[in-house]
Amino acid sequence: MEVIIQPTREEAGRVAAAIVARLVREKPDAVLGLATGSTPLGLYRELARMHHDEGLDFSAITTFNLDEYVGLAPDHPASYHTFMRKNLFDQINITEERIHIPNGSAQDIPAHCLAYEEAIIEAGGIDLQVLGIGSDGHIGFNEPTSSLASRTRIKTLTQATIDDNARFFANREDVPVHVITMGIGTIMDAGQCVVLAYGEAKAQAVAGMVEGPLTAIVPASILQMHPLVKVLLDEPAASALQKADYYRRVHDMKPEWQRE
Ligand code: GLP
Repeated sequence: MEVIIQPTREEAGRVAAAIVARLVREKPDAVLGLATGSTPLGLYRELARMHHDEGLDFSAITTFNLDEYVGLAPDHPASYHTFMRKNLFDQINITEERIHIPNGSAQDIPAHCLAYEEAIIEAGGIDLQVLGIGSDGHIGFNEPTSSLASRTRIKTLTQATIDDNARFFANREDVPVHVITMGIGTIMDAGQCVVLAYGEAKAQAVAGMVEGPLTAIVPASILQMHPLVKVLLDEPAASALQKADYYRRVHDMKPEWQRE
């Protein structure tokens, strides 16, 4: 894992955007895996700015989102469909048919999950997966003890995740208990992963992810087995890392050709 510690979340978001933009320029028909939550907002703002100011072209890009709440129609204000539309898709020139987000209103959820997996394969696989991390170490909505080999499926949220995400809903009781999420195995198939985490509330989860042990109780720790992961942190999110000085040194000593 490559851990990149930036002074602020704004700077970390800009580094993440530079990584995504490089891929979009080098491979205009790349497949992006996208995340929701408050963490990727800076990245999405910066990508929208690059589209407006620099003509970054998303017209041939395909996207697959990680997850969605079961029971929320796509136009529900707290759905991840609404989130993505508002915070990214309405701001760039993405092609409607190339957007994929699990459908929380699907009648046959297992069949929908299988079709989602097949669509990823048909698209050629995910080139770059953007990830946030839950304060309990979840990625997507793969809660602690999820199978590290899991594929897209229905999951039940922990109370901690419901509490964390209640701020997006009018009432805590409105947060759905069930979700559809890409599995950990699905995420691990991506060509590269860019994980973003900001704030002290994420420090323990980040330490578990980066410095182990590898365990299903911290699902993000599986990323230690992925060959190409960049972890972008602000200082508070990096505060529980034992080897923070080493990660800074690696970054400072990087050869020019390896820089973002
Ligand atoms: C939800 C999402 C995750 C996200 C997490 C953290 O659980 N399913 O993909 O990483 O929230 O959210 P935030 O970025 O708001 O802290």
